[in-house]
Amino acid sequence: MYRTVSKNLLEFLDASPTCFHAVKNMADTLLANGFTQLSEKEPWKITTGGSYFVTRNDSAIIAFTIPEDGIKGFRIMASHSDSPTFKIKEHPEITVEEHYTQLNVEGYGGMPFGPWLDRPLSVAGRIVIKEGDALVTKLVQVDRDLVLIPNLAIHMNREINKGYQYNLQKDLLPLYGDGAAKGTFMQTIAAAAGVEVPQILGHDLFLYNRQKGTIWGVNEAFISSGRLDDLQCAFASLQGFLQGEKKAYAAVHCVFDNEEVGSETKQGAASTFLKDTLMRICACLSMRREAYLVAIANSFMVSADNAHAVHPNHTGKTDPTNRPYLNEGIVIKYNGDQKYCTDAVSSAMFKALCSACGVSLQTFVNRSDMTGGSTLGNISTTQVALNAVDIGLPQLAMHSPYETAGIKDTYDLIKVAAALFA
Ligand code: CO
Repeated sequence: MYRTVSKNLLEFLDASPTCFHAVKNMADTLLANGFTQLSEKEPWKITTGGSYFVTRNDSAIIAFTIPEDGIKGFRIMASHSDSPTFKIKEHPEITVEEHYTQLNVEGYGGMPFGPWLDRPLSVAGRIVIKEGDALVTKLVQVDRDLVLIPNLAIHMNREINKGYQYNLQKDLLPLYGDGAAKGTFMQTIAAAAGVEVPQILGHDLFLYNRQKGTIWGVNEAFISSGRLDDLQCAFASLQGFLQGEKKAYAAVHCVFDNEEVGSETKQGAASTFLKDTLMRICACLSMRREAYLVAIANSFMVSADNAHAVHPNHTGKTDPTNRPYLNEGIVIKYNGDQKYCTDAVSSAMFKALCSACGVSLQTFVNRSDMTGGSTLGNISTTQVALNAVDIGLPQLAMHSPYETAGIKDTYDLIKVAAALFA
């Protein structure tokens, strides 16, 4: 059971090298389950009992269902589609002494750089092409070992194991080919997308790790893959959303983009995407603003973004009394400075939900002498003010190109999401 769910998760991760692919895969799953796709550019026709989804920027998605007897409130699970990586710059080719062709990249999000070196990588994302008079977006994935960032030999830097400060512009440029590869990068992208180079008017292209996800350990207790943060939660949210009965409340599966760079984009948690969608749903059902505000006050959001488990080599990095481990339950995240939106009310609601479906809980609070990360819960509640809890699945090596989590935890979150959407 755990194994099957984890295998399905790893398949989703392998098929989702970028946020654009993750959203496309979720949209395809929703279409296969009878959901109707809406466009923000056209008026919506929504009826009670219906199932819909809408995307923004091809990188954020909100799916929702309307109960037969109308909307008394929303039950929302929010996660994010993006992960730290490197973005390919405009005019990316650099030649080195006429013998090497490199790609010029910049960082996207915060990450440890070391694990990106000496492993096969490739390029994926989206391009915008001209087709007749229209601009059309196409997903692209170069499905082969295309680039690699080679380390410097120990003989040329004997000090490297004493700590090394990587320079993004100097140390982390991926090698793409020999001297003869000069001038071919956009041809490679065009060929992978099945278009001609002059058709390409824009691109959002990123590096991705070629190593596929795996289940491992003597008891197969662990899973590792790129992008567990936060596609593990996005996957569990969607599966629970599809499984839940969705009878009493309007159910909302929401995946934002750009969490790793602060969420302040039109498709991020700080944007109006969720608020616009909820307001349009109410407007389409002829609810007045008063009724919308009542529905929001009767709503609950679970912000699901992965959490740090106790690290076996660095146990002292975790708070002395709040210590999450892999495979030991979903993690509720607390922060006195409100980087997490959890409070006494929302944590009580979530605890009641988990105990009703027999799922264990753990807690995470930063050590008082360490500053942690933030997430989407508190950011999105500035747009849509409702009771919300920040939770996550425990993991190691967050933001590495190959992260590690527990085999049981995805299954547990699906169960809780299905109960949230019951
Ligand atoms: Co995250």
